[in-house]
Amino acid sequence: MPHFPPQPVTVVPVPGESPKRAQSVAAQLMLPCRDQAGSADLLLVVGEVEAWLELEGVKVNVQFDSAAMRHRRKGGHNELLGRAVGVKADRKPSIFDATGGMGRDAFVLADLGCAVTLCERVPVLLWLLQEALSLASVSRYEPVRDAAGRMHIRSGDSRCRLWRLARSFILTPCSRSERRRQP
Ligand SMILES: C[S@@+](CC[C@H](N)C(=O)[O-])C[C@H]1O[C@@H](n2cnc3c(N)ncnc32)[C@H](O)[C@@H]1O
Repeated sequence: MPHFPPQPVTVVPVPGESPKRAQSVAAQLMLPCRDQAGSADLLLVVGEVEAWLELEGVKVNVQFDSAAMRHRRKGGHNELLGRAVGVKADRKPSIFDATGGMGRDAFVLADLGCAVTLCERVPVLLWLLQEALSLASVSRYEPVRDAAGRMHIRSGDSRCRLWRLARSFILTPCSRSERRRQP
């Protein structure tokens, strides 16, 4: 699943759930909303609570208190990332994540105690991030709520932001295929 949509996105409701939220999100993001779509379409599936991107049956969502993210918090990834930006017991740099994506790196750093501003320019991903952050802020896991409180999402192109004000920033390069698709 690519990190930014390579093709138009169609919003569909979760089968069996009210389509109202899907319709409202489609209007907000100015995307078409259909009851059903072809299996080759890139879908933003929106239910009454959950939402995810889906392409050919592969689902991707942003959920900061999922088992996978909780595993990531404890795994070596946070150590490596933390070391890369100079996190220490008494040093928690402010971070600007210029390539927000699914927010995983940003969450790991916020969980390590850093204040993280993440910027994402693709509206669908931005919306998923905002949804995930608001769910994380009421998570039943206290560390997830705490980390969510340190995360701030910004929209648009990072290059237009005053990221120089941050002491550290991270930039996860897009894959070659993603770069080729960029406008
Ligand atoms: C490789 S992903 C980042 C992965 C992310 N760090 C994570 O942990 O999920 C790249 C993302 O950066 C976004 N992006 C790339 N260049 C950007 C820019 N100049 N401003 C804002 N977002 C950008 C893309 O839209 C894409 O969603």
